[in-house]
Amino acid sequence: MTDIRPAFIDGKPKQLLIGGRFVDPVAGERFASTSPSTGEHVADIALAGEEDVDRAVAAARAALDGPWSRFTPAERQAVLLRLADLVDAEFDDLALLDCIEMGRPITASRGLRSMVLRVIRHIAGQATAIHGETLGNSFPGTELMSFTLREPIGVVGAIIPWNGPLFSAAWKIAPALAAGCTVVLKPAEDASLSPLRFGQLCLEAGVPEGVVNIVTGMGATGAALASHPGIDKISFTGSCETGQKIIAMSAGTVKRVTMELGGKSPNIIFADADLDLAVPASAIGVFNNSGQVCAAGTRLFVERPVYDEVVARIAAFAGALKVGPSLDPETQVGPLVSAKQYARVASFLDEGPREGARLVTGGARLTEGALANGHFVAPTVFADVGDDMRIAREEIFGPVASIMPFDGFDEAVDRANATRFGLAGGVWTRDITKALAAVKRIKAGTVWVNHYFAMDPAVPFGGYKMSGFGREGGFEHVENYLNTKAVWVRTS
Ligand code: NAI
Ligand code: MG
Repeated sequence: MTDIRPAFIDGKPKQLLIGGRFVDPVAGERFASTSPSTGEHVADIALAGEEDVDRAVAAARAALDGPWSRFTPAERQAVLLRLADLVDAEFDDLALLDCIEMGRPITASRGLRSMVLRVIRHIAGQATAIHGETLGNSFPGTELMSFTLREPIGVVGAIIPWNGPLFSAAWKIAPALAAGCTVVLKPAEDASLSPLRFGQLCLEAGVPEGVVNIVTGMGATGAALASHPGIDKISFTGSCETGQKIIAMSAGTVKRVTMELGGKSPNIIFADADLDLAVPASAIGVFNNSGQVCAAGTRLFVERPVYDEVVARIAAFAGALKVGPSLDPETQVGPLVSAKQYARVASFLDEGPREGARLVTGGARLTEGALANGHFVAPTVFADVGDDMRIAREEIFGPVASIMPFDGFDEAVDRANATRFGLAGGVWTRDITKALAAVKRIKAGTVWVNHYFAMDPAVPFGGYKMSGFGREGGFEHVENYLNTKAVWVRTS
């Protein structure tokens, strides 16, 4: 397929990481991972069944009470910092795994180095900052001191999507380790390799066996994890529909859950905005990673006086993007991850004009030349989109912008909020008062002003409304993996 195969793609079937060893699945089942750029076979991956999930949960449970429980915060921090160094040293190969398996263009995959390392190192810092509180109480009659202890929540089931596999593995595993938890991670079926290799690097960094387990497989593998009585907490990133199922499954044993679900984020360009900033950033806010980003700003509201100009400039930007195989360093927009996502996105491309939207650019599957065997669609701009059209309501998860005109501030924020989602939003204006008024009105977990997509592990990220609950990033990230125990002590 390519002459720059990373060492981890070695032609051997990939096994499950359970109890510190790579093992075959009990039933011996496997599935094929293929390149979305070329359709070529990448690797055979172990398909974990219920018995394998049982084994992984048992290993994680045993490890929770093993040597890991005696690691000091500083020792957990040291392990995480070593892990970051190993990821740094091997980053080009890790980036290649995601590039080949899920199709993020190589230049963009390599560009994530700083973010992934910042995540692990920031969270490592938090391992030694975990603390409870002393709380004055007014209990009558007896003098009692009261304080809190923070304890690891236990065995964490982490279920991640395919749109940022290495990042997501780090984003789930690092805070669990900082908190002293153990983990069973279920990668998405379209992107198993970098999470598997990341799990192996955890072992090399000194994480004891059984603390990090990786069970590859399909949705049923995730469901076995989400309903498992031995799991204390589920941390999920993915679609709203699957998140709802996991919440329902968690009820059986009242698991803690955090949910980072989808979005249909509004991005509002006012007429007084600096369009030289707003246009490229808003376009990248849709087309980055072929639109396969939870926070993508896919509903673009543009104030009437600059509407025609912005539509034309976004369309020109989209039309100039280089679509190509993910291994080509020139490629800016790679394939969609799978045949399933290709069919889904293509159906929206067909539906937009039927619903009455005006196709300005793109709108088609790309099947010529080097793209013939991949899942490619053209970066697409629909203008004059109605708020009730499906392309304006559903998370397309493809390189598709829906642009609509508006008149006035109130109309913009009301329409921006008219969605069941609330993950993120953008505002473009030179007027600070208008910007902050919009920030207050937009019902979303993140609002960018004169920017789009900034993310940092020090800053919380997560949803309002049906985009989920719980925050990752910021202090809450590690907090989500801790229990609080209140302690009362008689002092006289
Ligand atoms: P998905 O939510 O079904 O998959 C995410 C993860 O959940 C994968 O690891 C999958 O194996 C697992 N999973 C699937 N069914 C499960 C179940 N019943 N119990 C437990 N785990 C289960 O998303 P999918 O099918 O890959 O993509 C469909 C749509 O979801 C996309 O078009 C997009 O709109 C949205 N999505 C949103 C993401 C985000 O970051 N917000 C990420 C991925 C998908
Ligand atoms: Mg694939």
